[in-house]
Amino acid sequence: MSSSKEPRGSAKGRRVLRYLCYSVVAMFLSTSIVLYDITNGGPCLELITPLVDYALPIMDDPDLGKTVADLARSKGFHFESHEVTSEDGYIIELHRIFDPKFKARRPPVVVGLPLFLSSAAIMSDFRNNTPAYIFADHGFDVWLTNARGNRFARRHLRLDPERDKLDFYDYTFVDIGEFDLSAQIDYVLEATGEKKVFFVGMSQGAASLFALLSRRPSYNDKIEAMVSYGGFRSICFTFNRAVQVIDFLTWPVTDLLLKFEALALVGPHSSSMVDRVCARASTLCGLFFNYALFSSHHYLNVTRFGVYMEHMPAGTSLKNFVYFGQSRGMNCDGSVREFDYDRGLFTRLLLYLNLRTSRNMDRYGSEEPPVLDPNRIRIPIKLYFSDGDDLVPIQETMKIAEDIGIPAENIHRIDDDRFSHLNYIFNKRRKDYVIHSIDFFKGIKTPWPLENPPGHSDGDP
Ligand SMILES: *[C@@H]1O[C@H](CO)[C@@H](O)[C@H](O)[C@H]1NC(C)=O
Repeated sequence: MSSSKEPRGSAKGRRVLRYLCYSVVAMFLSTSIVLYDITNGGPCLELITPLVDYALPIMDDPDLGKTVADLARSKGFHFESHEVTSEDGYIIELHRIFDPKFKARRPPVVVGLPLFLSSAAIMSDFRNNTPAYIFADHGFDVWLTNARGNRFARRHLRLDPERDKLDFYDYTFVDIGEFDLSAQIDYVLEATGEKKVFFVGMSQGAASLFALLSRRPSYNDKIEAMVSYGGFRSICFTFNRAVQVIDFLTWPVTDLLLKFEALALVGPHSSSMVDRVCARASTLCGLFFNYALFSSHHYLNVTRFGVYMEHMPAGTSLKNFVYFGQSRGMNCDGSVREFDYDRGLFTRLLLYLNLRTSRNMDRYGSEEPPVLDPNRIRIPIKLYFSDGDDLVPIQETMKIAEDIGIPAENIHRIDDDRFSHLNYIFNKRRKDYVIHSIDFFKGIKTPWPLENPPGHSDGDP
C-alpha cells in the first residue's frame, strides 16, 4: 500500500529541490547583476542613490570628503607630495609629512603600506592615532610610500592603465618592493641628503621590503633599522577566513583568471555607492566589514568608518591578490618563492599532458619560481605581532625571525586577542607598540610591554 505513496512523496521532494535550485541560481544571478551594476555605475545605482540619500542623513565629521593634503594639514602637519618614477616606468606619488615645530634634524622614516591601502588611509585618523602622525609628532620626517596600481600610482611612462590593463597590472608585492620601494627610498635619500632611512613596514609594506632586500642586498646599506607591524614573507600559517576563501576560489583557475582584462585590477576604489552608504550608516558598515574580514572590532572606531572608507580600498592587481593566496599554499619551510605561473589546476593538467610549456620556464628560466633568500636581509629589525591577528599569526612571525635570524629580544608580542590585523592602521586606543618602535629608532632600550602605555586602557570609553 505504500508503493502508491512513496513515488508521490519523492516527487514532491524533487519539486521542492528543483525550486530550491532555481531560487539559488536566481539569487546568484540577480546579486551578481546588482553588484556589477553598482560597482560599474549602471542604472540600479542611479535608482538607489537618491533613495539612500533620502533615507539616511550623512555623518557629521569634518574629515569626510577631505583630500590627503587637507587631512594632514588639518592635523597641523606640513604636507608635501612628490612624484617618483620607478625603473620600470610607474609614476608614484610619495607623500611627506612633518611637524615644523621640530627645527633640528628630522630623521627620515619611510612607511610601507598594507595591501589595498594608500598613504591616505593612514592619514585619515586623528593626530595622536595613526603611526604616521605619531612618528611625525616625535620629530621624524615621515615619507608615506604608495604602490603601483593604487589611487596615487596609476600612471606609467609608456603603459596606459586602461588600454594596457594586462601589462600595467602584471605585478606582485615582490615588484612593489624591488621597484617602487627602491625608487622611493632613493628619492628620500636624495631629497634629505641623508645616508640611511628608518623603515616602518605594515603588513604588505614589510613583505615588500623583505622582498627588496632579498632581491637587491645593496639596499641593506640604505636602511638604518626597520620595524614590522604584522609583517610577513609568506602567509602560510594564516587562518584568516577571507584569505582561505580567496585561495580556494582562485587557485584552480589562476592562469585563466590572469588572462581576463576586466579582472586585472582589484578594488580600484570603493564604489561611490559603498562610500555613500558608509558615510551614512558608518557603524553598520564598519561592523559588517570587520565581521567579514577580521576577528574583532574592539579597537576599531566603527563610528568613523565612513571616513576610512573614502580612502580604501585603494586598488591592487589580481596577480598580487592571487599571490597572497599562493603564498598560503607555499611550503612553510622558509623557501618563499616568487609568483608561480604553473600552479593552476588546468595549467598542471595541460603541462602534464604536454599540451603547453611551463610559463615559469619562460619567465624565470626554471620550473620552480626563484626563492627569495632571507639570508640576504641584514638590517636590525623589530617584529611586532598580535594574538588577535589571524592573518599573520605567531607561527608566521617566529618563522620570519628564524629565517632572517632576528634575536628573541626583538620580537614583541601584543598580548591581546582583540587586536586584529587591521588595528595596526585603524586603532582608537593602542599606540604603545608605536611608542616602543620610536624608542628603538632613537636608540633607547625600552622594555616590552611598556609599563604605563599611553592612551591604552582596557575599558571602553
Ligand atoms: C570615533 O570617531 C568619531 C567620528 O569621527 C569621533 O567623534 C570619536 O571621537 C572617535 N572615538 C575615538 C575613541 O577616537
